[in-house]
Amino acid sequence: MKPLKMGLIGAGGIAQAHMRALAGVEEIQVVAVADIAKERAEATANRFGIPNVFEDYRKILEMPDVEAVNITTYNQAHCAPTVDALHAGKHVLVEKPMAATLDDAAAMTKAAHETGKILMVALKTRYSPHRQAAKAIVDSGALGDIYYAEAVAARRCGIPGGSFIRKDTAGIGTVADIGVYALDEVLHLMGHPKPVSVSGIANNILGTQHCKPVAGCWQWVPEDLEVEDFGVAAVRFENDALMIFKTSWIMHMDSLGGNILLGTKGGLKMNPLTVYRHEFGMLSDMTPQVSGVQDIELFRLENLGFAEAIRAGKPSPIPPEEMLLTNVIIQGLIDSAAAGAEVKVSIPAV
Ligand SMILES: NC(=O)c1ccc[n+]([C@@H]2O[C@H](COP(=O)([O-])OP(=O)(O)OC[C@H]3O[C@@H](n4cnc5c(N)ncnc54)[C@H](O)[C@@H]3O)[C@@H](O)[C@H]2O)c1
Repeated sequence: MKPLKMGLIGAGGIAQAHMRALAGVEEIQVVAVADIAKERAEATANRFGIPNVFEDYRKILEMPDVEAVNITTYNQAHCAPTVDALHAGKHVLVEKPMAATLDDAAAMTKAAHETGKILMVALKTRYSPHRQAAKAIVDSGALGDIYYAEAVAARRCGIPGGSFIRKDTAGIGTVADIGVYALDEVLHLMGHPKPVSVSGIANNILGTQHCKPVAGCWQWVPEDLEVEDFGVAAVRFENDALMIFKTSWIMHMDSLGGNILLGTKGGLKMNPLTVYRHEFGMLSDMTPQVSGVQDIELFRLENLGFAEAIRAGKPSPIPPEEMLLTNVIIQGLIDSAAAGAEVKVSIPAV
């Protein structure tokens, strides 16, 4: 395969993980990097031998040999570079969550449709062998019709710092940051049913008022926390299924459970991956033998999946239409929490 010439937009924490994962990957050549903090772009270029360094990402989009960009900026800066890159004729891999707002996610999806270029959202967990095993089990029909699910992503005391907790950079907190992993997993396994209503609450009363970063916690500055650190919602789908979505960066609890699906023929739990059924006239629990992989390998696989889709003319491996549903639910939760009532939701026409 001819190496894919890629530009890197954003040279912060996660950009380093992408670059480390690409070491020795001949299919992808990162030829330019841009960051509004130019010293970060320069440091990344020096570390990984990237020949072109810019402050303004539009300079990368002007490079004719660049076919694709990997956008690793904070959430509030996902939309503009994605839309600009697609319209400049580049394929786009953009970090999760797709966007901080539903409007941004819809604009990104629309740009992908208008340009016909690949837009892929970097949900590395799609490449996890456990996820792929679970998907194969669900797609085999072993669970029957799925009528209930729980999507859960929670830490006891793990409020991140830096750009993750500010409105102007992250725009949104745990609901999109770690919540999107749980939402994507459960929606993917359910086959992306259409959400129709959301009733939820969200707040940051623990992280701003009631808790301090004691030993064992991630360290954060309570005065700096501008986004929600807790959110839960009931999500109703067009097919009458219901999902409970729970996410928290901080809580007085060890766990809120994990991702589960209940179907008419079987139930599935993700961690550890187990399938519960009635079989052979008895209760049966099945634990598939699946080997895990390191995080860095997931970054490598998602970049390779992106490059392969471009080279083979395949559709986006993680398409914007699927990820738009996560933003419909995230926005529904935030809107419902603000309204103090259930809200109707719909998928924007794009
Ligand atoms: N896939 C994963 O495992 C994973 C893990 C952590 C974070 N993330 C996601 O990656 C994104 C970035 O996270 P991070 O930890 O690297 O944040 P970060 O704050 O360390 O880095 C973001 C970088 O983007 C730069 N930037 C902002 N606007 C820009 C623009 N218009 N043009 C160029 N550069 C710009 C910032 O200067 C900064 O260097 C977030 O959306 C986050 O949710 C993904």
